[in-house]
Amino acid sequence: MKNNKWKMDTAIIHTAQTPCQKTGAVVSAVVPAVAYAFPDADSAAACVAGERAGTYYGRYGNPTIATLEEKIAALENGEAALGVSSGMAAISGALLAFLQHGDHVVCTRDVYGGSYKFLTSLAPRYGISADFVDCTNLQAVEQAFLPNTKVLYIETPSNPCLTVLDIAALSKLAHGHGIRVIVDNTFMTPYLQRPLELGADVVVHSATKYINGHGDVIAGFIVGKNEHIQFMRKNIMGDLGQNLNAWDAFLILRGLKTLGLRVRQHCQNAEEVARFLDNHPAISHVYYPGLASHPQHELAKRQMRGMGGIVSFEVKGGYEAAKSFINALRLAMISFSLGDPETLVQHPASMTHASIPAEERLKFNITDGLIRFSTGLEDAQDIIADLEQALAAIPMMGTASRE
Ligand SMILES: Cc1ncc(COP(=O)(O)O)c(C=O)c1O
Repeated sequence: MKNNKWKMDTAIIHTAQTPCQKTGAVVSAVVPAVAYAFPDADSAAACVAGERAGTYYGRYGNPTIATLEEKIAALENGEAALGVSSGMAAISGALLAFLQHGDHVVCTRDVYGGSYKFLTSLAPRYGISADFVDCTNLQAVEQAFLPNTKVLYIETPSNPCLTVLDIAALSKLAHGHGIRVIVDNTFMTPYLQRPLELGADVVVHSATKYINGHGDVIAGFIVGKNEHIQFMRKNIMGDLGQNLNAWDAFLILRGLKTLGLRVRQHCQNAEEVARFLDNHPAISHVYYPGLASHPQHELAKRQMRGMGGIVSFEVKGGYEAAKSFINALRLAMISFSLGDPETLVQHPASMTHASIPAEERLKFNITDGLIRFSTGLEDAQDIIADLEQALAAIPMMGTASRE
C-alpha cells in the first residue's frame, strides 16, 4: 500500500504493508527461505536475468527484506533501496559501485571513523584514492576535484562534531563536474532529512542506529536510482555476501513503526541537554545544530526537520577530565553505538575515531576532551541530573590548570 499524500508518520506505518491475503495478518510475515522454487526452467532463467520479478536466492534478496526496502525507498523518496548487513556494507557498497582502480573520492573532513578507515586503508589497496576536505567551504571542495574524481562523499550532520553541510549546493557543484554525491543520512533518518530531494544521487544509512532504534540489529541501507541499486544488489552485495537476513529485516520493520515518535523525543531531549551543557562552566564547547551559536544553524533550520538526538561537547581538561566524566555517569552508558532508547556516551578520540591518527583527528576537532552523547528516550530531567553529577565529579573543576 502506498499513498503519496500520506504524511511521514502515516507513511512509516502503512507503506508497503498490506494484510496477508490468505490469513488477514496485519504484520508482515518473516520469510527465512534461502531457496525459491520455479514452475519451469524458463521462469527460473527469466528471474535470474531480471526479466521477471521474484526472489531466486537468499543472498540477493528476500520477500521480508523486499517489504522493508520498499518502505525505506518510499520514506527517502528514492526509486529503490537495498538492505545490507551493516552501515559499513552500505557505505563501502555504494562507493565501490561508482569507483574503479584509478578513481578519486572527495570526502568530508569529519566523517564516521569506519568510513575514514575504509577510504584510507582498504580502498587504496584497490587503486582508489581519497582527499578529506572541509565541505562547508564550496571553493575548497571545487579545488579538491581532480580529473579522476568520481564521488563526493558527505555525512551531514557529521559524526562526531555535527557539522552541517549544504546538500543542495554541494550536489549542484559536484554534478557540474560529472561527480556523483553520496550522503550518509544516519544521524537524521528520512524523518528529518531527505538528501535525494536536495539533489544527492545516493543515500546510505546505518540502520543499526535510529532506523531500527532498539540496539539489537546491525544493518544498512542504500537508496537511489533503480539501475544503481540493481547493480549494487547483483554485483556488490551479492558478490561480496553483504546481505541482510529476514529476521533482522523483521526487527527493523517493527522498530521502524515508532520512528516518528522516537525521533521527536530524541530531538526534544537532545535540545534540553544541549542547552544545559551550553551554560555549564566545565564545558568549553557544545556542538549541536539546534543552538543559535552553531555555525550552520540557519542551514540546519532550512535543511533539517529537526536537529537530531546527538550532542557533542568539549570537556575542559582534556582526556583525563573526559575519562573522569564518563566514568562518573550512572544512567548514560559508555558505548560505541547511538540512536538507541538508552542514553549512550563515548569518547571519539579513543573509541569510534581511534583509527584516525591524532594529528589528523585534531584537524577535524576530535580533541582528547571531546565527548559524543547520544541522548536516549529517558526523561530529560533524569538525563540532565546524571550529566550534572558526573560533571561535578571531574577533579579540580574550574582551576586554571585545566583550561
Ligand atoms: C554516521 C555513521 N555511519 C555509518 C556507521 C556504520 O554503521 P554500522 O555499524 O551499522 O556498520 C556509523 C556507526 O556508528 C555511523 O555513526
